[in-house]
Amino acid sequence: MSEPAPARLGVLVSGSGTNLQALLDAELGAPVALVLSNRKDAYALERAAGAGVRTLVLDHKQFAGREAFDQAVVEALRAHGVTHVVLAGFMRIVTPVLLDAFPRRVINIHPSLLPLYPGLDAQQQALEAGALVSGCSVHLVDAGVDSGPILAQAVVPVLPDDDLERLRARILAEEHALLPWVVRAWVAHPLVATPRGLALGGGHPVPRRDGALWSARVVEG
Ligand code: GRF
Repeated sequence: MSEPAPARLGVLVSGSGTNLQALLDAELGAPVALVLSNRKDAYALERAAGAGVRTLVLDHKQFAGREAFDQAVVEALRAHGVTHVVLAGFMRIVTPVLLDAFPRRVINIHPSLLPLYPGLDAQQQALEAGALVSGCSVHLVDAGVDSGPILAQAVVPVLPDDDLERLRARILAEEHALLPWVVRAWVAHPLVATPRGLALGGGHPVPRRDGALWSARVVEG
């Protein structure tokens, strides 16, 4: 039997790309082979170029629909040998065209404790709900909005004097640590089905953090 292709990451972005930067700065065990943006003015593109990573802009408005756009995305990812896809601030709903091309190989980072507060303005939603904790989630992507199986979460307290900016910054700091940690495990070991849901393989212990609680389902497999 032939060996599986070595892992290569494709990162999809739309904005400032601080999560992309965290990936570029981390030791992931796999190279970032392509950064693809649907917006040509995304600062994430400059971050990628600064790290010597290939970039591509595909403007979704130039395509007939979501499927046609996703087909072009799939072709670009394949052309760069991408095996694992990370949505890092990518502001598009993806379709089965992308998901079926990369089964169990598309993950997303979202700034809430899913399934709470999916969609836009998750931090604002948490504040408006009067939540006492929020956080971030890394999940496998399905065709819904922030609805796929959860792989890891970081719990961040909402402090009495928090405003949107402070809460967003505190959650973002956890995103920047949690996402690379998940990606490192995910590219090294296939996800494992367990009775409680999908788990990361490799048996790595979940790091202990100051000021935030991380939780992830991890098995030896
Ligand atoms: C992050 O909060 C991420 O969780 C959400 O969009 C934001 C993107 O930020 N999906 P950045 O582009 O990584 O700075």
